[in-house]
Amino acid sequence: MRAMAWPILRASPQSNMRRARQSNSLCTVSSPAHMTDIRAALQRTLGDAFTLEHELTGGGMSTVFVANDNTLNRKVVVKVLPSALATTVSTDRFNREILMSAALQHPHIVPVLSAGEVDGLPYFMMPFIDGESLRTRLTRGPLSVSEAVGVMRDVARALTYAHGRDVVHRDIKPDNILLTGGAAVVTDFGVAKALTASRPAQRRAPVTPGGSPAAITLQGIAIGTPAYMAPEQAAGDPNTDHRADLYALGVVAWEMLAGAAPFQGASPQQVMAAQLVNRPPSLVTRRYNVPRALVTIIEQLLEKEPALRPRTAADLARALNNPDIISGAFGSVPGGAWRQQRMRVAAVAFFLALAGFLFWWIRGRK
Ligand SMILES: Nc1ncnc2c1ncn2[C@@H]1O[C@H](COP(=O)(O)OP(=O)(O)O)[C@@H](O)[C@H]1O
Ligand SMILES: [Mg+2]
Repeated sequence: MRAMAWPILRASPQSNMRRARQSNSLCTVSSPAHMTDIRAALQRTLGDAFTLEHELTGGGMSTVFVANDNTLNRKVVVKVLPSALATTVSTDRFNREILMSAALQHPHIVPVLSAGEVDGLPYFMMPFIDGESLRTRLTRGPLSVSEAVGVMRDVARALTYAHGRDVVHRDIKPDNILLTGGAAVVTDFGVAKALTASRPAQRRAPVTPGGSPAAITLQGIAIGTPAYMAPEQAAGDPNTDHRADLYALGVVAWEMLAGAAPFQGASPQQVMAAQLVNRPPSLVTRRYNVPRALVTIIEQLLEKEPALRPRTAADLARALNNPDIISGAFGSVPGGAWRQQRMRVAAVAFFLALAGFLFWWIRGRK
């Protein structure tokens, strides 16, 4: 069973939360009353140019519709802040997401096409990614090594670009990675943080992904999804930086290969506590045919101490180009070398005993 993906500080109305827990896939759901209102208002705002179709599930913080762009005859996705969440903070947060996403233009990041307001609620439009979320893909079982490395590379490239612009995603997880045409694209910058914007005046020097850490987290408040949260993010450490995204990608990589996330628990608190103190189970105990070089990289991404992880997403992307990552020798189970040694000793002892017996038997016949 995979870990539940409770979002923290992504609070939403109960119905939304329940839906987010039940399904993280691209599928249609029936609309409660307030949804019908928002749908009708959105359709009025968009006019004849767009026709709203079904709603997508998978998120917990917003309402996401597929629509038809009637001029260009193509699908688009419209993401709107539900009125129940339209407190000042949520509206600001949503508007920040729009501006942050719009500023990021990269082949592995879902772009923003346009934005507006409907009955005082912000919305934005993006291309429809024709495929499925990594969450949906995982319901059919683990990925092959080369598929998993492909996703890791694409996300690492997206993060290299975002981190280079001082943006940390903070919610990298299978629900926010969409698969299309053999590539992976990152979406949902809903809890992303612009490091420069959050930087207190005299606190720090300019931040580069490899440079000094900067604050992205309010002191003592965890933001993100527990199953994918770096220990420092789970602890609400204000010095949490881009390396939290690398940790989350390590969890996603582990899950793509093992079929379930490494840290499980009955409650968000238990999962966060596990992120802080538990060593992840050895990946090779779950799957034997993962190259040792890839196991090592994933273990580094999952280091509790950010300084022990790859320094930057660019370093990670480079490391993933090593051919051993896909075709090198398989990793061995911890303690495997000792077990092999014991097998070798037992085999030698067996052959010595057999030789002794034959010697004794031949001499007896003479
Ligand atoms: N552009 C898109 N194309 C196709 N599906 C999408 C797109 N954007 C989002 N989705 C689907 O909708 C779900 C929720 O969207 P997301 O932006 O993550 O919202 P939330 O902020 O509520 O988590 C995603 O997990 C994904 O399955
Ligand atoms: Mg999401």
